Order: sequence, then C-alpha cells, then structure tokens
Amino acid sequence: MLVAADKMLKDALEGKYAIGQFNINNLEWTKAILQAAEETKSPVILGVSEGAGKYMTGFKTVVKMVEGMVEEMGITVPVAIHLDHGSYDGALKAIDAGFTSVMFDGSHYPIEENIEKTKEIVEISHSKGISVEAEVGAIGGEEDGVVGSGEIADPEECKRIADLGIDFLAAGIGNIHGVYPENWQGLNLEVLAEIQKKVGGMPLVLHGGTGIPDDMIKESIGLGVSKINVNTECQLVFAEATRKYIEEGKDREGKGFDPRKLLKPGTDAVVKLVKEKMDLFGSSGKAE
Ligand code: 13P
Repeated sequence: MLVAADKMLKDALEGKYAIGQFNINNLEWTKAILQAAEETKSPVILGVSEGAGKYMTGFKTVVKMVEGMVEEMGITVPVAIHLDHGSYDGALKAIDAGFTSVMFDGSHYPIEENIEKTKEIVEISHSKGISVEAEVGAIGGEEDGVVGSGEIADPEECKRIADLGIDFLAAGIGNIHGVYPENWQGLNLEVLAEIQKKVGGMPLVLHGGTGIPDDMIKESIGLGVSKINVNTECQLVFAEATRKYIEEGKDREGKGFDPRKLLKPGTDAVVKLVKEKMDLFGSSGKAE
C-alpha cells in the first residue's frame, strides 16, 4: 500500500519506535526491502536520492517500479517513496513523478532562505497529500581540522522550521553519513532532548543510521526520533556477499554467468539486514 509518511511517523512517535528509511538503488534492493517489510509486518520508507533516481533513469521509473512491485509482490504494509536530500527543483520533480513523500534539504542555505523554500515545498506537497521532511542548518563539529563529532543543529532554528507545518524534521546531533570515524564522539543526546522540547510533537529524523551503536539508537527513539535512515550498511553487506560469491568461483559454476544468481547473495544479505534493523527500531509487527 503506497502512502505518505506522515501517519506512520506520528504513530511511531506515539508508540516510541522508529520507521526505517532504507535507500534504494536498483530493482534488487527495492525487492529486498519490500520483502523484509512484508515478512516483519513493518511499515517502511524507500529513500531515493537524486543520484539514485538518475541512475535508475529517472523518478518516473522509480515510481512505476515500486507501484508494480507493491502490487505483484502482494505488499500489504504501508510503503512510502521518499526523496532523500532533495534540492528545490528535485523536490518539484519528485512530486510531479508521484513520490508520496519528499525531503527538501535547504540546510546549506542561510536560515531565512531555507525557511522561504521549505514553506513553498510544504504548500505544494500538502496540496497533493505528500509528506515533507526538512533539514536545519548545522554547526560544524570541526576542531583542529578533525571532524570528530558530526554536525549539531541549533534548537531555535529547528523550532522555526518545525513551525512551517512540515511533517518531520532532520536535525544534526553529531550523526554523519557513511562509516563513522574512529574518533567519533557519539550522538549528542542532550541537544536532541533540547530540540525535542522546542518542537513538541514533531517526529524527528536520524540520518546516518549506519554504525550507530544499538543503545544510542534506542535512546534517541526515546527522545522523539521516529525515522532512521540507513544506506551505507546495505551497501556494505551487499558488496561483501557479492564479493564472497565471486571469490568462491560460484559465478562461474554450472551454466556460467547468470546475473540473477550473481545478485542473489547480496539481495539476501540486504533482506536479512533490513529485518534486523526493523526489529531494533521496534517497527516489526506494527503493520499487522
Ligand atoms: P548512512 O549511509 O550513513 O546509513 O546514512 C543514510 C542516510 O542518512 C540517507 O539520508
């Protein structure tokens, strides 16, 4: 069932669990994530970056592919197709193509410009029943040229963006995309608590879900995080399983090269990882 993401996040906030956003790059990952969601009876958000959209030939292909899979795989759990870190023009294109949810990332603009553009995207999206995620500019965590803590958002600015009527808010609390550096200082849960106090009942989004220790994930959910984005970890398990398959020479067994067989171990590894994350985030069983 294709839906916007606002209701699933509100339910998650109330029930003190989080919905996973897993980024898709191709047919195999999309199928793997939908399979994991259905088998765990978990609502799910399929994240699509502008780059991934281009790779898949465009947003329209993505929407049609997901629509087709939801129908033909008999998916009954709520599924949102969400633009990840969209530019202003990218958000408009995604809305046009039939995405059910968009992130407009204006965090690199001065706050007034971010507010202005976010407001416009909210108006257009909400008139079509599409949910909106916004991001607040961040204070760099750089010290002596070493980024050890990630970026920290200003709670006052978070409040200003939340008040625009967005559906959920991404705010930096020391989280970063990709694998965390060895000197990473962890999530700043004090700032998260401060942000939560300022924005009231607004679901918060934790980007950079790869590599955050389980106890920190759980604490952040207790402080209002209702959506957790995971991408790199899917890439890592996919690459690892594929490498192993090739190293063992299995790609050359039998009738020879078969792309369906070659991509199966990686796809299975993504299914397993996504199910583990859904259990950890507490969303498993919430779409019974
Ligand atoms: P990771 O790649 O660190 O898992 O982060 C994903 C993300 O936040 C996408 O927006």
